[in-house]
Amino acid sequence: MLKFPGERLNNGGHIRNVLDVGCGVASFGAYLLPLNIIAMSLAPNDVHENQIQFALERGIPATLGVLGTRRLPYPSRSFELAHCSRCRIDWLQRDGILLLELDRLLRPGGYFVYSSPEAYAHDAENRRIWNSMYDLLRRMCWRVVVRKDQTVIWAKPLSNSCYAKRGPESRPPLCGPDDDPDVAWNVPMKACITPYSAKMHREKGSGLQPWPQRLTTTPPRLGEIGVSVEEFQKDAQIWHHIVAEYWKQMKSVIQRNSIRNVMDMNSNLGGFAAALKDQDVWVMNVAPVNASARLKIIYDRGLIGTVHDWCESFSTYPRTYDLLHAWSVFSQIEERGCSSEDLLIEMDRMLRPEGFVIIRDKPSVVTHVLKFLAALKWDKWSSEVEPSTDALSKSEERVLIAKKRLWKENSV
Ligand SMILES: C[S@@+](CC[C@H](N)C(=O)[O-])C[C@H]1O[C@@H](n2cnc3c(N)ncnc32)[C@H](O)[C@@H]1O
Repeated sequence: MLKFPGERLNNGGHIRNVLDVGCGVASFGAYLLPLNIIAMSLAPNDVHENQIQFALERGIPATLGVLGTRRLPYPSRSFELAHCSRCRIDWLQRDGILLLELDRLLRPGGYFVYSSPEAYAHDAENRRIWNSMYDLLRRMCWRVVVRKDQTVIWAKPLSNSCYAKRGPESRPPLCGPDDDPDVAWNVPMKACITPYSAKMHREKGSGLQPWPQRLTTTPPRLGEIGVSVEEFQKDAQIWHHIVAEYWKQMKSVIQRNSIRNVMDMNSNLGGFAAALKDQDVWVMNVAPVNASARLKIIYDRGLIGTVHDWCESFSTYPRTYDLLHAWSVFSQIEERGCSSEDLLIEMDRMLRPEGFVIIRDKPSVVTHVLKFLAALKWDKWSSEVEPSTDALSKSEERVLIAKKRLWKENSV
């Protein structure tokens, strides 16, 4: 329908990050993955609650999430395409606040693919909803790109020009200059349009390279977080080396194709995930709340991620990840007075039997964690080393890698 050159769905790498709201068992995301498009598939914790579990068991990125009252935990301008297939969301509620949240998350020129009875049914009620949605989205400066069969595809504007042409009393209003569109942890949604930064407006877009170049070229928003190009390049180099060392350490115990769903619990600039690009895995990059500004770099690089406070439990089902990487996460939560034992239990909940944890932290943290390995049954195999120091080492560090056993493996 979008008529990209050669009918390539990823439009030559320009469509990479997708948000699928109301994803079911994430079949849309599963279809896109081999096309080098990565979808953050969302389903709420409702009567369909085990959908996300199915998706993750299929090895497809997915998380619990709902378009409700709070912003989704992603920075602005993260996705090239949003998708709702029969997601049964009332998009007109509360002055269109849920569409305005999608508007915040979509990149300049981003698409909204909507496949729902309102887009094609001819009864009076569906016609009324369609007309109201069409009117609202027109006021938001979105345009219909194509409407065919059961689906309509809208596109957002590329710059602020259309907003500037709206009258001062136009609804929905533009968000005020004091609104930071990138803060997304426990932030109430607002019924306003997020205008583009001056740079995006000038450049009429995000300034992104297509995938896979965007993984390694300088992310357009790097300057916003105060990181230099040299620091970014150094970070990428160091993580390539660290990840190779991790794999060497696990080589004797890792089975082929046994690692698929990976979480980097403190993703920083995404160096850990970038170093895994050629492995058949996907990485959920997690930016702790105090480093959440860095999450936009993850999305600029064509990776996916979320914000999280590791003093709380994570929005996923039990035993859904094969590998958890925790770099300085324990020392950070301890500084905030949260319990490292609680975090160990949460990691154990998320970790699949036979899965691995990699904990890179201060020696005192690693010594503390070692005491719990047997109780957690993370003692199928473990290895502890002192890593070589590099520009990322904050202080003396140790690396502990442990493998979780099946609880009843001796009795079967
Ligand atoms: C009929 S299923 C469609 C599943 C899938 N998209 C498909 O086409 O097979 C609708 C899904 O939307 C989800 N949903 C409903 N309201 C939602 C909201 N406000 N935010 C996120 N998901 C929502 C429901 O939980 C359900 O999983």
